[in-house]
Amino acid sequence: MEFTTEDQRIIDKMIRISKRNPLMPETYIPWDYQETGDERYLSEDLISISGLEEYRHLSTPQKTELGRREVAQVMYSYAWSETMACAFFNRRLLKIEQHTREYNFILRETIEEYRHQSMFCDAIAYLKVQPYPPSRIHKWVASVTVKFAPDSILFLSVLAIEMATDIYGNVLRKDPSIHPVIQKVAQLHHIEEERHILFARLWLKKYTEKAGIIKRSIYALIVIINLYFMRTMYVRKEIFDELGLKNTDRIYKRAKKELAYKFGKLCLSEVNQYVRSFNGWNTFTKFVAAKVLKAKI
Ligand SMILES: [Fe+2]
Ligand SMILES: [Fe+2]
Repeated sequence: MEFTTEDQRIIDKMIRISKRNPLMPETYIPWDYQETGDERYLSEDLISISGLEEYRHLSTPQKTELGRREVAQVMYSYAWSETMACAFFNRRLLKIEQHTREYNFILRETIEEYRHQSMFCDAIAYLKVQPYPPSRIHKWVASVTVKFAPDSILFLSVLAIEMATDIYGNVLRKDPSIHPVIQKVAQLHHIEEERHILFARLWLKKYTEKAGIIKRSIYALIVIINLYFMRTMYVRKEIFDELGLKNTDRIYKRAKKELAYKFGKLCLSEVNQYVRSFNGWNTFTKFVAAKVLKAKI
C-alpha cells in the first residue's frame, strides 16, 4: 500500500508510540480494586432494556446484575471480533513485504489486539460471568468473510467494528459511576484503538477516494452490516432467564428493538461522519441505515 508523505509521517509516529508507550493491561487495570458494592458495570444508556417498563420493575440489585452480565457479553463480542481481525491481519502480513510501513504498523496492531483479547478475557473472569458464544450464523458469516473477502472489505469491516466499540467505550470511560476496572479497560482500549482507526482510514483512502457511486454504496452497506453484526451479539435472552424474569421471550424481543434504537442514536455521529467523508450516503444507503440501524441520516 502506498501512502502520501504526510500519511507516512503519521504512521511512523504511531509505530513509535506503540513501541515506546505500550499499555499493559496487567498493570494499567486496577485488578486489585476492592468493590464497595455501589459500582455499576454498564451505563444505563447502554443497558438493553433501560427506558422500558420492564426495566423500571427491576430492583436495584437486579439492574446492577443485568449491567454486569451485559457488559461481559459486550466484551466477549469484542474479544471474538478481534480474534477475527487478527486472522485477517495475519492473512495480510503474509502478502506484503516485511520492510514496509504497512507491515510494521499491522504487526504492532496485531500485538495490541492480542493484548486486548487477553484483557477482555481477564475482565470477564473478574466479573465472574459466563458469557454466551456468538450464534451459528455469526460464526459462519465471520469465517467465510475472513477467508474469502477482499482486503479492502475486511479493513472496512474492522474499522466499522472499531468505531462501534469506541462509541461504547466512550460512554463507559466517561461515566464516573462505572466500576474502575471496566472504566480502565475502556480507557486503554480507546487509546490504542484510536491509532487503529486512523490507520484503517488512511489505508482505505485509496479505495474510498476513487470509488464510483456503486462502490461507495457498497462501502456504506459494509459499514451498516458490520454495525448490525456487532449489535446483534449484545442482547441475549439467556441473561433475562438467569435473572429469573418472567415472559423472557417478550422481554428479549423488546430489548433487541430498544437496543437497536439506542445503538442507532449513539453510532450516528462517528459513523455518519465517516461514511459522509467518502460520499457513501445516498437515498438507498440512507434507507438501509434507517431500516437496519434505526438511524436517521
Ligand atoms: Fe482492540
Ligand atoms: Fe483495533
